[in-house]
Amino acid sequence: MIKSDMSNEKTNPNVLSNLSQVENKRIQKYQPKLEGYGGRQVVFSFPDHPNIVGKVEMKPLLQAVEVAVTGGDEAELRAQFESDKRDREQQLAVLQNYFGSEHVLKQTFSVIKIPVNADILASVQKIIGDGSERVSQLQSFEGEYVWSSISFQEKADVVHNPSKITLTAGLAELRPVVTPMYQSAYDRVTRASLYNLNEQGTVQVADLEKIHPFLSKLLESIKNDEELRTVVAEFVTRAIKYTNETGTIVDIIGQDNVVFFRDESNAWDYKLIDALYDQPISAVSNSITRIAEQEQVTLSLAEDASLRNTLNSIRVINALANILNISARITALPTALSTIEPATLMTAIITSAY
Ligand SMILES: Nc1ncnc2c1ncn2[C@@H]1O[C@H](COP(=O)(O)OP(=O)(O)OP(=O)(O)O)[C@@H](O)[C@H]1O
Ligand SMILES: [Mg+2]
Repeated sequence: MIKSDMSNEKTNPNVLSNLSQVENKRIQKYQPKLEGYGGRQVVFSFPDHPNIVGKVEMKPLLQAVEVAVTGGDEAELRAQFESDKRDREQQLAVLQNYFGSEHVLKQTFSVIKIPVNADILASVQKIIGDGSERVSQLQSFEGEYVWSSISFQEKADVVHNPSKITLTAGLAELRPVVTPMYQSAYDRVTRASLYNLNEQGTVQVADLEKIHPFLSKLLESIKNDEELRTVVAEFVTRAIKYTNETGTIVDIIGQDNVVFFRDESNAWDYKLIDALYDQPISAVSNSITRIAEQEQVTLSLAEDASLRNTLNSIRVINALANILNISARITALPTALSTIEPATLMTAIITSAY
């Protein structure tokens, strides 16, 4: 069993100066070691800076490679990256305001040249799949440096904490086989959590677990642990307020984006590790209107990703509110949504994704 070193979780005055040191020198010098990856970014640790990780985002890296290959405007791309960086910084500050800075990992964002090394290549291949043109473009840059966005973040030893319980929604629509039982659980939870928001206590834990199986441990644990229930309820209440007031979801789709754990005094606590989401809820309005009005709708991959992430995040937060007897709900979705049969919604998301 991995023993967690909780001291690293505390605010460390050296963390931010370490971050800027790394930022100012060539990243290669720090011998990045692959720590993990999610759906969007590759995460590295640095042996000489044990309290931080570096996160390289796939999308800007691939964009930069494409601009280099096609002889596009590099200055324009960098200006875009800089503007995205300022947005991120601002969004992070807002997140810290709503959840408290003690619950949000410290993070800085930079636009620098990234070495395209074997770890980056292997991770990108795993994230977006072999054989894609973008992967072969990236391969041709192996050993070279490419402009991209990177962020430095406090290392979260909580990801190895044995008490850890993650709040991971996953995607209820992306099942290989949809059985009638699955479909009816999906319909009930979707109606109670996205359509009829005032029906307190109508979400069945078993239904929620069926369509969001990554929530199992959390749902089982809150049944008997009053203290954990209180901490989860606090998080859910803040998430509802944050989403309603900012029009942005908390990204609880991926593994370990939001983590509950016992601190050194054995009390439950939580951290937002990767909870920022870059698309506003308003970005799904057009998709919802089309699904409500047209017989068959094919969304673009970006529209589909935005819609399914938004719906899954809100469905899970509202379902947890329902189960935890919290009266507030995320109400920021377009009203046309509740005119769509849940099965139609599911079909539109699945067929657009494949
Ligand atoms: N600060 C950190 N300290 C230690 N490990 C981390 C840290 N941040 C992320 N990780 C590890 O790396 C993985 C991916 O990180 P992260 O969630 O930030 O990437 P992502 O690509 O944005 O994920 P997704 O889009 O799937 O949510 C996490 O699941 C976690 O295991
Ligand atoms: Mg993540």
